[in-house]
Formats: sequence, C-alpha cells, structure tokens
Amino acid sequence: MISLTNVTKRYAAITALDDVSLEVSRGELYGLLGPNGAGKTTLMSLLVGHKHPDAGTITIGGVPMTSRNLDLRGEIGYVPQQIALYDELNAQENLSIFGSYYSLSGSLLRARIDEALEAVQLGDRRKDKVKAYSGGMKRRLNLAAALLHHPKVLLCDEPTVGVDPQSRNAIFDFLESLNAAGMTVVYTTHYMEEVERLCSRIGIIDHGRMIAEGTLNELLRLLPYEETISMRRNDATEANRSAFERFGVIREVNDAFELRPGKNVKMSDVIAAVEDWGIEYADIEWRKPTLEAVFLYKTGRSMRD
Ligand SMILES: Nc1ncnc2c1ncn2[C@@H]1O[C@H](COP(=O)(O)OP(=O)(O)OP(=O)(O)O)[C@@H](O)[C@H]1O
Ligand SMILES: [Mg+2]
Repeated sequence: MISLTNVTKRYAAITALDDVSLEVSRGELYGLLGPNGAGKTTLMSLLVGHKHPDAGTITIGGVPMTSRNLDLRGEIGYVPQQIALYDELNAQENLSIFGSYYSLSGSLLRARIDEALEAVQLGDRRKDKVKAYSGGMKRRLNLAAALLHHPKVLLCDEPTVGVDPQSRNAIFDFLESLNAAGMTVVYTTHYMEEVERLCSRIGIIDHGRMIAEGTLNELLRLLPYEETISMRRNDATEANRSAFERFGVIREVNDAFELRPGKNVKMSDVIAAVEDWGIEYADIEWRKPTLEAVFLYKTGRSMRD
C-alpha cells in the first residue's frame, strides 16, 4: 500500500531521512518508533505530500507520489503532531472546515461529522469552543478531522502526546477498530509500549536511518540474549558473583546483579542454585527483552536519553 524506496530528505545541512526504504502492506497497522529528531514527522510529511524527497521514490497504492500528483491526498488522512484546530470555533465548526478541504458538503458532511465525533467520543461536546477543551480532547478532535473523508490510509504522528491513559486506550481501541475494518495505519511514537501494544510491524528509526524493521518478535530476536535475570543482593560477595557466571554473562547494576543467561539456562535452574548456595537475595526479577534493548543494542544509546 505504501512503499518508500531509498528515500532521502535534507533540510540544508541536516539529512532528516537517509536512504530509507519501507513497505507497508494494505490493512497493516505499522509503527514507526524513534527518538526526538529521528525523522518521523519528516517521513509523514512526505507521505502526505506536504514535502518531497531529494532522492528516492514513494508510491501509495502503486501510484507514484510526485509534486504533480496530488490526487493521492484524498486517499490519506493525516493526524499532525502539532494540533491544528481553530480555537475560537466549536468542534462541529472545526470539522465543517476540515470536511470542506475534502469537498464534503451538505447532508454527507453532516453525517460524517456526527460519525467522527461519535467515534472519538466528543458528541456531547460538539458545541463547545475548542479553546475550552483539554489537551486530550483536542488530540481526539485532531484525529476526527483526519477521518471525515474516509481515507484508505491513516497517518498518525504521535497522536497520544499529553493524553491521559484512559483517553489513550480509547484512541488505541478506535485505531484498532479502524484497522480491523481495513484501514492501513502508520503510527509514529517514541513510546515503545505503544508500538508493542498496537502494531503488527515496527520500524525503528534513528538519525534518519531505518535501523531495524520487522514484527515485535523479529526485532526482539535481533538481540544476542533472550532474557535478563536481575537479583538485588543482600550479601554481595565476589564468590557469589563468580558462582553465577556458570549461567551466563554477569553485569553489576547498582545493588543488583544482572544476568544474561545462556541459551539453555532456565529461570528455575538459577533460583534452585541460589537456594542451594544459601545466598540471600532481596528480590529476583526475570525480564523479557524489550524494544528499548533492541534500540540500545543497535545504536549504543538508550532511546530515553
Ligand atoms: N523544517 C525544517 N527545517 C530544518 N530542519 C528540520 C525541519 N524539520 C525537521 N528538521 C530536522 O530534521 C530532523 C528530523 O526532524 P523530524 O521532525 O522529522 O523528527 P521527529 O522524529 O518527528 O522528532 P520528534 O519526535 O521530536 O517529533 C531533525 O534534526 C530536525 O531538526
Ligand atoms: Mg515529530
């Protein structure tokens, strides 16, 4: 449905996207994960036709996206990172303006506004001015504005920033229902938990480069270890530490030992050994690998820095 081939985009000296290739299939909920400045918004603005690449090609539904071919915009709904609403107007009036951009009018426009407001649960606030909305409500209206023309592709650029957990879940449920009904969705975020929860495939982007791509499980398999066992110790001694080395690689983190077990080591073996040796431990925690670990492994930096 969406295809980028060797796309590069520069702003003067800054290369915001560097030779990025990407395929999003029809009906997929694709997550683009990356820290600030990674190039996520730049990629979205190319897909929506607001900007054009310096090199490479973009096709949507097999049709090349060029500066001359703007018809594709009707296929796309764009939820911008910066909320774009008229503060002095109410929700309904805002949506009327957005609908007119897509040549919607009359009873069809009214029906689409009702549908969109219902979907983002703002039906009862439709007559309130947007300036009286909370941040989360503005985000939801921003999303509704992108859906009026029933796009085939929905591009969401960090749509949950500043949204409370409850409204965030409502947005997730809504995106999942749109996706289940056949909409292709591209979702950018710097929250790993969001792509883990939502997305069937994930691209990790950093400094304009796609550093890893695949399903969550494929990405986690890039790591040379499968899990981490962390033990907070009451009686840290060198002897105890070296006893654990038979299980894998040990790292000391604050008051805990972190063990990256070898391939065939089971959690139960480690606990049995700890008990056998009579070592006191305050707690023992078994962690599955995360996308954060994948990012760290690929870039040498933490995504949260
Ligand atoms: N209009 C512009 N002019 C110059 N540089 C820009 C412009 N827009 C973005 N950049 C630069 O391009 C790079 C990528 O920015 P972009 O906004 O695409 O990142 P992002 O992944 O969306 O980040 P964030 O998570 O902060 O929204 C950054 O280094 C940014 O400073
Ligand atoms: Mg951005």
